Amino acid sequence: MSLSSALFQQPGSSSAARFMLDAVSTPIAVPSPPRDTDALALLRQDHDLIRQLFKDFERLLMQGHDTRHRAERAGVVSRICSELLMHIHVEDEIFYPAVRAAIQDDLLMDVADVEHEGVMRLIVELDMMGAEEALYDAKVIVLGKEVGRHMKEEQDVVFPKVRQVNLDTIALGKEMASLRRALRRDSAQPHFHHENEGAT
Ligand SMILES: [Fe+2]
Ligand SMILES: [Fe+2]
Repeated sequence: MSLSSALFQQPGSSSAARFMLDAVSTPIAVPSPPRDTDALALLRQDHDLIRQLFKDFERLLMQGHDTRHRAERAGVVSRICSELLMHIHVEDEIFYPAVRAAIQDDLLMDVADVEHEGVMRLIVELDMMGAEEALYDAKVIVLGKEVGRHMKEEQDVVFPKVRQVNLDTIALGKEMASLRRALRRDSAQPHFHHENEGAT
């Protein structure tokens, strides 16, 4: 089981529920994609949003370190983590398995899986910290660097390989968009996590 699946299914872990609920309470800047959007276009759209959120964090970092500024930054970090959780979960559950089967490059996909695990570990660490704690801002900066490198590798190396093998990225995109809608819908339920108890 991937770490992202574990976070969505383990009732003892608070990260997914907390960040997903934050995502629902935070206005979403990017409109919902059409139902037949290409999988690669969907992922690029997510990447652009995540890059923008890290830029927002860096901008806020320059503005001050008092309680108000820290609270503002924590809100952006919460949104970053919720978007990353959903993005990685959709990749782990649908995109990566289909790509792994199609492109026949297990090492490339293994590296991507390990990078996902590193990102998820940082998200869990941030979930357990307060914005005023030492290393909080540093962890967000490192998360941004790791995520930036990972997304670049996906777009520069993985996506061209997907295009070469003529995977049906429209069908894949429909499946991904559907899971994403379900995640957003379920996260609006107050007992999102408990509803998944016992899931395997
Ligand atoms: Fe990824
Ligand atoms: Fe990605």
